[in-house]
This record gives sequence, structure tokens and C-alpha cells, in this order.
Amino acid sequence: MLAKGENPNAALQSERADGEEVRHLYVHIPFCPKVCPYCSFYKETSDRNKTQAFLDAVLRELDGQQTMLPPLRPKTIFFGGGTPSALSTPQLEYLLGGLRERLDLGALEEWTLEMNPATVSLEKARALRALGVNRISMGVQSWEPQLLAVLGRVHSAEQARRSYEILREAGFENVNLDLIFGVPTQTPEMWRRSLETTVAMRPEHISAYNLTYEEDTEFFRRFVSGELRQDEDADAALFEMTADTLAAAGYEPYEISNFARPGRECAHNLAYWQGADYLGLGPSAFSTVGECRWANVRDTAAYNARIHAGETAVDFREDVPPTMRRAESIAFGLRTNRGVAARELAAWPEKVAEFGELGLLRVMAGERVILTRKGRLLADTVAAAFI
Ligand SMILES: C[S@@+](CC[C@H](N)C(=O)[O-])C[C@H]1O[C@@H](n2cnc3c(N)ncnc32)[C@H](O)[C@@H]1O
Ligand code: SF4
Repeated sequence: MLAKGENPNAALQSERADGEEVRHLYVHIPFCPKVCPYCSFYKETSDRNKTQAFLDAVLRELDGQQTMLPPLRPKTIFFGGGTPSALSTPQLEYLLGGLRERLDLGALEEWTLEMNPATVSLEKARALRALGVNRISMGVQSWEPQLLAVLGRVHSAEQARRSYEILREAGFENVNLDLIFGVPTQTPEMWRRSLETTVAMRPEHISAYNLTYEEDTEFFRRFVSGELRQDEDADAALFEMTADTLAAAGYEPYEISNFARPGRECAHNLAYWQGADYLGLGPSAFSTVGECRWANVRDTAAYNARIHAGETAVDFREDVPPTMRRAESIAFGLRTNRGVAARELAAWPEKVAEFGELGLLRVMAGERVILTRKGRLLADTVAAAFI
């Protein structure tokens, strides 16, 4: 924990005097139209009384970071949440416009913004496109009305379809749709239908997440009480179905939960997984620059108050020495289809051989180690053996 007012980044000024740029920016928008019972991302229901103070706080935080950090010249920007599209069009114009004024966007390649289908309008989508956002990630979760109800979603399947059409109409040519499998009461047939419906819409990218029961969620409490159950074998079969259906439709499985048409991988997430530096703004946002990692307070009111009082919003920091960053990049790398360089695992020849015999990984041309499909199901266990 930091002392009040202490800035964790002061040391970076000297450590990173080489002027190396930070190329990836994350902005956390903590508002949602309604809180979903399975979700543990930091969020709260939209609150008009906090929003303007929040928008100003983000811009002020960015100003502060720009004086402390190496130059920020983003190649990717990701607005996540929560639900960034829960902000109104004028609020988005204020925030994104403020960002544009403060940043050199000459190197920007990808600007993603997460949307909930209930918060999409043509006016908003056009405004975002005009502001430079060129990738949308929309949480559909399922096309089955019954499962949308189980998930407590605020939108219908029809509304999600209409929102997708609006995004296309507004000129978005790079769209991701999020889906969830392993949902209570979901049958394999329902999942097959959701995959086929999604594929027929031809998004550039599909994220297919296995439902996880996260602490501090309503689903977790119902899981602990025995009301909701997880069937790992059934989930593994749904994962297989996902990989087969999406591969047949031309989507490359470039990470365990992420599938993209050629060249449409999410550059921002790839940068994380490859161990790049990134700056995060907003409540709960993490940053990693050089050998320093820090996170902002998970409380919007506290975040606003601290930033507007001229204090740091950071309430956690840790050192991430090169050995730790290397271990993390092995764990993340194994989740991707590029795998990791064989030399990175040279210290564990027996483990590599053992996992190879078990059919969990392959060594490609002696140079790269990648997980097989079976290995992807056990990615965390395999990664743990190397770190
Ligand atoms: C921040 S939300 C995305 C955008 C928007 N808030 C929405 O829900 O439409 C990120 C995604 O994480 C996934 N997600 C959230 N909680 C999850 C959980 N417990 N298990 C699996 N996926 C989850 C959902 O697919 C969700 O769309
Ligand atoms: S899934 Fe999306 S809309 Fe639902 S609570 Fe999480 S961030 Fe908010």
C-alpha cells in the first residue's frame, strides 16, 4: 500500500530516462446500465452525480501521468469496463475529445471501445467512429432468450442483432462479439446455435468465454450454496465444439478464448500477452511500466475525490523484476497460438518432454513451444510448471 499522496511513478522518471515510449493505453469506465450477476469487473450502475467528476478525473489523471512517465504515444487504446457505452454521446465526446487533445495519436492503429447492446445508438456509434474509435467489442453473451434471462442481461437477442447492424451502418469494420458458454441450463444445442448465429453475422473477432464463478458475485454465492453447478467435462466438450465450429468458419484460435479472422487479432490484448508496457487510467485500472506495476483504487467516488484533491489514485504497487515479467510472458504466451520460444523453456527439458508425451504441447521446428487443443484446456496447470 502507498502512503497517501505518494506517487509510485516518481522512480520511473530516472529508471526510464531512456525515453522509451509507452504504446498501450487502457481506460476503465466503471458504469453499467445494470449489474450482471456473474461479473466481477469493477463497476457500478450508472450514476449521473458521479459522471462529470469521473470524466474530469480521468483527464486529470492522464495529465499527471504524462508528467511522470516516459512519453505516451499509443499504438493501441482500449476503453473497457464496466460499459464505456453507458456514457452518453456528449460525455463520450467530452472524454475522447479530451484524450485526443492531450495525446499524440500519430502512431495509433487500434482504438477499441466495449459496448453493451442496450447502449448502442446510431448517433453514438457515428460519434465514436468520428472520434477515431475503429474497433468495437460488444457483449452479446448468448442469442438464446432463456440464457440472456439466466445471465440477467438487460438486452434481448433482437436488440443485440440490431445493435450489431447499427455498428456496421456507422462504419465499423472491426467488431468483436463476446459469448459465454457453460451457462446454467445451456444445452450443447443452444451453444451450437449461438456459435452458428454469430458466425453467420461475420464479425471480425469472437471471444468465447467459459463462465467462471467469480468471488463477490451473485453467481458465486449461488454456486457455493450448491444451487448452481459447474460441469468441467461438459465445458470441455463445449470448448471443443467452439474450436471446431469457429475454425471451420475461418476464425483462427489465437488465444484460448479469442478467435479472429486473419489479421483481425486484438492488437491491444496481444500486447498484454506479449508483456508490453501499458498505462491504465480510471478506478481499478492496472498499469505496468518497466519494473513497476500499480493499480488504482476500486471505488469511483474515492478515485474522483483523490484525483480532484491532487492526490494519487494508486493504492497498490509492486515491483516486477525481469524474472517475474519473463515468467508472466511464458504463462501468457502459452495461452496464445504463437506459444513461447523454446529457449525460454530451456531450463525445464523434462517438463517439456513430459507434457509433450501427454499430448499437451508441441515443439514446432525445435523453435517454439505451443499448447495443443488438449493442452489449452489445462493451460494454467501447464504454465504453473514453468513459473
Ligand atoms: C467488461 S464486459 C464487456 C462489455 C459490456 N460490459 C457487456 O457486458 O456487454 C467483458 C466481457 O467479459 C465476459 N465476462 C464477464 N464476466 C464473466 C464471467 N464470470 N465468466 C465468463 N465471462 C465473463 C463477458 O463476455 C463480457 O462481455
Ligand atoms: S458483463 Fe458487462 S454489463 Fe454486465 S456487469 Fe459486467 S461489465 Fe457490466
